[in-house]
Amino acid sequence: MRISVIGCGYLGSVHAAAMAWLGHEVVGVDIDPAKVELLAAGRAPFYEPGLDDLLGRGLADGRLSFTTEIGRVHDAAVHFVCVGTPQAPGSLAADLSALDLAAQALIPHLRPGALVVGKSTVPVGTARPLAAGLADVGAHLIWNPEFLREGHSVHDTLAPDRIVYGLGRPWPGSLYDGTDVDGIGGWGGEAAADVLDQVYADLLAAGSPRLKMSYESAELVKASANSYLALRVSFINAISDLADAAGADVFDVAAALRLDQRIGRLFLEPGLGFGGGCLPKDLHSLIAQAEQLDAPLTKSLLSAADQINVARRARVVELTQRALDGPVAGSRVAVLGLAFKPHSSDVRNSQSILVAEALAAAGAEVAATDPAALPSARAAHPALNYAETVADAVRGADVVLVATEWPEYRELDPAQVASWTDARQVVDARGVLDRAAWTAAGWTVLTPGRPA
Ligand code: UGA
Repeated sequence: MRISVIGCGYLGSVHAAAMAWLGHEVVGVDIDPAKVELLAAGRAPFYEPGLDDLLGRGLADGRLSFTTEIGRVHDAAVHFVCVGTPQAPGSLAADLSALDLAAQALIPHLRPGALVVGKSTVPVGTARPLAAGLADVGAHLIWNPEFLREGHSVHDTLAPDRIVYGLGRPWPGSLYDGTDVDGIGGWGGEAAADVLDQVYADLLAAGSPRLKMSYESAELVKASANSYLALRVSFINAISDLADAAGADVFDVAAALRLDQRIGRLFLEPGLGFGGGCLPKDLHSLIAQAEQLDAPLTKSLLSAADQINVARRARVVELTQRALDGPVAGSRVAVLGLAFKPHSSDVRNSQSILVAEALAAAGAEVAATDPAALPSARAAHPALNYAETVADAVRGADVVLVATEWPEYRELDPAQVASWTDARQVVDARGVLDRAAWTAAGWTVLTPGRPA
């Protein structure tokens, strides 16, 4: 099928490449010429395993192209809208201006009967008025939220856990009352769903479950998925604080919790908390929506998770101070890890960066490093002091802080690290070091939620 992808950031560039891999003819559109140039040369504008390969294949087959010209989408039957919806400055709510601009730019180029598929993360209530505007030009809208994780986005796009279709008409069992059912171009949702089924035919055949629901439900699925993941992380970090106060070990507690099938294994890693371009802003957006929808208890539940996450940074700064056994000001701190999680170069809302900045603000001389995120960290946070290698960061440090749990940091040889510095204190903010090995090599390991 002929497909366009509007917005080629983390989501859109992977989606475009994946759709070409499925055999479709895809044009990706972005307003940033530098990004388009990189993508057209087969290079991902960020670190994402497998994406360069997928881009290269699509470009070589001639099925994939990138452009800044929105007019190039005119012969596509299906248009995926993948623009960013970041947190608005000075507010918890999402900034939908890129989505509005994309819709306005797209509408003049839509052929009658075209299908627009919204993938951006939006507050509940966004899709329905957009659908009405598209219906005016004979186009149809499905809201099809994306659940891909950075670092696994190729896999998550080609083998999703579930595919959600938010449709204009109410679905049996949905609570939506059906107002304006036939106002959406008279096409309802079914014919549109059939078209999207063709796009995703291979994924559906491979067994990814597809759920149909109202626009509002689909919007809420995405917001609640990310917020629930945030709640889980904050929950185990709240238990980490209790463990600290009670002399228990949160890692033992988490290991036992994970074996309860009702609780599940994932998103119970205690430590420095969650960051990135999605969980924090989507949690904030849902807090703003709860306020707007007059759900005060929902708002306080979500707000507590947010506050617990913010407090993780102060907790790690406090541990660093304890490790120094003296003032932070004037000390030298090696910070290992800047990305918001391993296998990513993304430093948006990275807890690791925020801790490094807090230490620098307290007067520490910080030397921070990362295997993949140094260029993006340098660009976004030019005032921090960076080191190219672990050895460079650690040399002369008074304390070592492991902030992002890259495998290369887990596997560091404590004896070798000890050869670069006289410091023998390491703050293991994510609880990933082999404590026995580090202790045997003469180090004191301080971890949130774990007795020293
Ligand atoms: C997240 C969701 O996992 C995806 O499903 C979603 O599609 C995506 O946001 C999005 O909305 O686009 P991502 O931002 O790539 O994906 O990151 P996650 O893997 O979810 O990790 C988020 C943060 O939580 C990281 O900072 C990670 O270090 C932290 N985390 C995760 C913990 O602190 N503890 C855990 O147990 C798990």
